[in-house]
Amino acid sequence: MSNVVVVGAQWGDEGKGKLIDILSKDADITVRYQGGNNAGHTVVVDKQVYVFHLIPSAILHRRKICVIGNGAVIDPKALLEEIDGLIKRQIAITEKNLKISGLAHVVMPYHRILDSLREAKRVNKIGTTGRGIGPCYADKVSRCGIRVIDLLNPNILKEKLEDNLREKNEIFTKVYGQTNFDFGDIYKEYLGYGQQLKDYVCDAALYLNGEIAKKKSILFEGAQGTFLDIDFGTYPFVTSSNSIVGGVSSGTGVPPTKIDKVIACVKAYTTRVGEGPFPTEFADQLKEEIRNRGHEFGATTGRPRRCGWFDSVLVKYSSIINGVSELAIMKLDVLDELKEIKIGTAYRYQGKIYREFPMDFEVLSKAEPVYEAMPGWQTPTSGIRQYSKLPKNARAYVERLEELLGVKIKYISIGTKRDEIIVL
Ligand code: IMO
Ligand code: MG
Repeated sequence: MSNVVVVGAQWGDEGKGKLIDILSKDADITVRYQGGNNAGHTVVVDKQVYVFHLIPSAILHRRKICVIGNGAVIDPKALLEEIDGLIKRQIAITEKNLKISGLAHVVMPYHRILDSLREAKRVNKIGTTGRGIGPCYADKVSRCGIRVIDLLNPNILKEKLEDNLREKNEIFTKVYGQTNFDFGDIYKEYLGYGQQLKDYVCDAALYLNGEIAKKKSILFEGAQGTFLDIDFGTYPFVTSSNSIVGGVSSGTGVPPTKIDKVIACVKAYTTRVGEGPFPTEFADQLKEEIRNRGHEFGATTGRPRRCGWFDSVLVKYSSIINGVSELAIMKLDVLDELKEIKIGTAYRYQGKIYREFPMDFEVLSKAEPVYEAMPGWQTPTSGIRQYSKLPKNARAYVERLEELLGVKIKYISIGTKRDEIIVL
């Protein structure tokens, strides 16, 4: 296997965890390049459900190496809990199969609290996961962030934490009317995390490029999705990192010239958690029906996901900016019982038709979708393993998507289990 990126092409939760689980058995190393424990990647193996937040889901395969790159943000408490939870389930985790970039930024307690305080103050709420992701990335860009490597140097951590608390405590008390953070408590807690994590810490960029030079294959696991990307998403209803393929190089130190293939992961319909525009969102009844059939509840926060028809305007844009080589269509089986299936192919606003993803937020949030309707197949598909055995209408549906997007379909998932997949 060459060096492959799996990127979410919608608003996250496309089924990236399952796809990574399948693809990672042929890759030597799997790497997270952005995001933090706002992600929730679910994998089902022999009726056991695993939900990953920071660790790549490839960790389930023995002898495979997982890396968290510099572009990710790490909440050490959450990471240690995730490691402990996996060890309790007999998944071995050591410095041999988990490596963390020393340059990744650390989510601090004040980031988590600031996340919820900022949300509470906003008129137009984003509906964040409350994990402190936005404030942590904001500090990184403001050049006051604390990195994993800093947790291993008591002098640097002291200096940086004192600096941060001087400013943050003023904000907390004067703007938000909260109490002060205590330097001593946080300093001690985070030095402790540093000691617990130190064996995993390395220069991940050097490590990955060294392994590539030895012809090892790398799988890059995107978190979130293209329309949650800080630059290309439905801003400001986005996350705070570059979830698109462009984030791979800045988030790992692996140059673009070393990336061979990009697989876009999409659901056969669309979902979104949190607030923000969603042109093809279902009306309430169908939303509830699909939510229940697809178990569309957030893997991180448990929130019910909003559901809607497949939007080819969005995914076409995604395939352009991600340079997509192949498509993976997930959860096709969730549509099994529907009589009619629609695909959003354009937007209409004030008499004008938009065939491309509009930059103007007013258009995006107020536009009516233009639909194409296709007959459903009303037959169960989960037992099918060969493309030619799929019902005719199901093939017509995915082939229409292929045509609209101009990208070849390589995988079709028809259930949650590992083997419920059709490879073309
Ligand atoms: P995976 O990797 C779906 C959404 C949140 C919110 C917005 C900003 O499982 O696909 P944040 O906490 O990141 O500042 O929240 O982004 N969001 C996700 N939605 N899947 C995810 O990850 C998400 N991670 C963040 O719901 O709307
Ligand atoms: Mg998720």
